[in-house]
Amino acid sequence: MNLPKVYVTRQIPKQGLDLLRQAAEVEVNPDDAPVPRERLLEIIKDCQGVIGLLTERIDAEFFDAAPNLKGYANYAVGFDNIDVPEATRRGLPVTNTPDVLTNATAECAWSLLFGVARRVVEADAVMRSGSWAGWGPMQFIGGDVTGKTLGIVGAGRIGTAMARMSRGFDMPVLYTSSSGRRNETLDKELNARLVSFEELLEESDFISLHAPLNPGTRHLFGADAFKRMKRTAYIINTARGPVIDEQALLEALKAGEIAGAGLDVYENEPALTPGLAELANVVLLPHIGSGTESSRTDMSMLAARNMLAMLKGHKPETCLNPEIYD
Ligand code: DGY
Repeated sequence: MNLPKVYVTRQIPKQGLDLLRQAAEVEVNPDDAPVPRERLLEIIKDCQGVIGLLTERIDAEFFDAAPNLKGYANYAVGFDNIDVPEATRRGLPVTNTPDVLTNATAECAWSLLFGVARRVVEADAVMRSGSWAGWGPMQFIGGDVTGKTLGIVGAGRIGTAMARMSRGFDMPVLYTSSSGRRNETLDKELNARLVSFEELLEESDFISLHAPLNPGTRHLFGADAFKRMKRTAYIINTARGPVIDEQALLEALKAGEIAGAGLDVYENEPALTPGLAELANVVLLPHIGSGTESSRTDMSMLAARNMLAMLKGHKPETCLNPEIYD
């Protein structure tokens, strides 16, 4: 029996691939780099399924190149790389990997929060340089965390987890909601306050971004937002880079309009806005929010289960366009 052909655009944890291999012929990009677009379009010509990453554009051109496609599975929760309406128009299911990376991403946001507030990276660099001459009362003075106000932009799964983790630090929690809907978990468990974007900017000591990237959130944080923030406040981004206007952030950091930034994602990945890496008051991570053993493994298993369901014509667990099954 001929098994359906699935292309996986980058090496992912073995558990997902093993699962997939039970019912599909699987080809994995052997290189530790994205497949060049032309080559990808060529490879998928005879594929029934593709598992891809946030670095791939899944659009009309992609679907045109894969006439036998039964579904596309994103190995990511964010899906701004997929033209979902286009997939829906074609009756093609597309999926993402929510839930399994929620805690890992929130923990990453906390590591950035502490890293930038307590100047961990700068201090580590001094130790490694061998130039530390001993304890000094004025060295590496940072910002307080306990009791400070945490502002969550995008109180979905990851934003909620981030806020819940603040319990040990007695932080008042503010959040915004693009739909205007309250987050009952945050209201009940943390006595959090749903506020306007402007109020969140003005009152927060730490602002953590967890909103998806869409036309309404692109450059949500630009020069005006940074001017409204406290000069002692920090911004943390583990969502998507373009939610921040990176040039405006650079200028705000240089001008001392905010105290610092912890970033895991960038406007033009993998490029950094020139000048950002020279600043001491930023901590920069290479998009590792979901990067824990269990989270990345579970992402591979979920993407594989989604793919197997789509190959059979069944509704996958985490479908982004479930209406195609109505
Ligand atoms: C996602 O899942 O959207 C992350 O950015 C990668 O894990």
